[in-house]
Amino acid sequence: PNCVLAYSGGLDTSVILGWLQDQGYEVHCVYVDVGQPCEDRDAIMQKAHNCGAASARLVDVREELCRDFAFPVLQWQAKYEGIYLLGTSIARPLISKACLEVAREVNAEAYAHGATGKGNDQCRFQLAAEALDPNVKILAPWRMESFRSLFPGRKEMIDYCDAKQIPVKASLAKPYSSDENCLHISYEAGELEDPAVCGVDRVDFGMTVSPQQAPDKVEEVTIGFESGVPTSVNGKVLSALAVVETLNQIAGRNGVGRIDIVENRFVGMKSRGVYEAPGMTLLYAAHLQLEQLTLDRDLVHLRDRISPEVAEMVYYGFWYGAKMDALMAFIREAQRPVTGEVKLGLYKGNILIHSRTSPTSLYDAAIASMEGGAADYDQTDAAGFLRLQGLPGRVQSRVRPREW
Ligand code: ARG
Ligand code: SIN
Repeated sequence: PNCVLAYSGGLDTSVILGWLQDQGYEVHCVYVDVGQPCEDRDAIMQKAHNCGAASARLVDVREELCRDFAFPVLQWQAKYEGIYLLGTSIARPLISKACLEVAREVNAEAYAHGATGKGNDQCRFQLAAEALDPNVKILAPWRMESFRSLFPGRKEMIDYCDAKQIPVKASLAKPYSSDENCLHISYEAGELEDPAVCGVDRVDFGMTVSPQQAPDKVEEVTIGFESGVPTSVNGKVLSALAVVETLNQIAGRNGVGRIDIVENRFVGMKSRGVYEAPGMTLLYAAHLQLEQLTLDRDLVHLRDRISPEVAEMVYYGFWYGAKMDALMAFIREAQRPVTGEVKLGLYKGNILIHSRTSPTSLYDAAIASMEGGAADYDQTDAAGFLRLQGLPGRVQSRVRPREW
């Protein structure tokens, strides 16, 4: 039988590639490029072939990841448990989609991945894959006793590769595990598992400098949006990926975008994670500022109530489904007026708000001003407005006087 494997070229998926062949599969490797660090793409493809892959290909989905996955989540201002910008979570359904496209092409019946049975990633890979293809057979070797007993540790995996002449880099085991794409880098496990351990002391950050190392002067950056979609940086129109990459540079060199969280995984346990998402952090801040000018009060309050739910769905892995489709239609409509520019000042890890402008601004200084009177606002109206707002309270305090 044929199977596709979400292949990274690292130790785990190299072992899985060999093991799947031992199980009788013809394995088609798919390296989904989401912007993970990779010195030599050709070498990774070559390695898959050398390890017996029936085929190996690289699919570059970075633009799609930013445009069709991360940006709608940004429009929702969705953050898991109030902080996490979902950089890993949102990449997973797209990885499944890219793998299943190959599966269709090569007539594969199974889809294999290297996520463990204890994490969130297995949920996202699988829930996305099943929503796209109800007949797909998921192979998650780390969830199988037969696989785990063969490879209780790194040593057994390296021995297996040696025996099969699968080249593995003699890299030292890292003190933590990381996951990188163009949106962010996550760091967890290992030394970071103790939430009393200081993350910024241990992590070797790849996208940001520390606030202490950042320049001693404010750097200004202007971000432009059209209908809630980021389209320009400092006046230059850019693709979705280029917006994110440019802002990663600018925010990164100013120490912006690091967080540390103890989060609740979908599978139930708490887990400590350290993240850096410099560009997306700027986008969330700028986008919120522009919404303040352009969005109706009750609409944005409604969005803010549903936003944690969107974050939860993305985090758990329910990206493809009727509820998410409807939520995406809602946000697309709601974001139509979010057009304009926001200027931010970056200073040693801080984001300062400098200015915002919009051709569709609802802000009316004449109405808001303390001086003079605008035709649309008559202060005498406020008396009746508050008389009615206060009615339930007055009745209650008459019937059941409040102690105070
Ligand atoms: N805890 C984060 C999340 O669930 C990051 C997961 C990182 N995954 C990984 N394979 N290292 O989205
Ligand atoms: C894993 O367990 O595969 C990585 C961590 C996670 O998915 O949460």
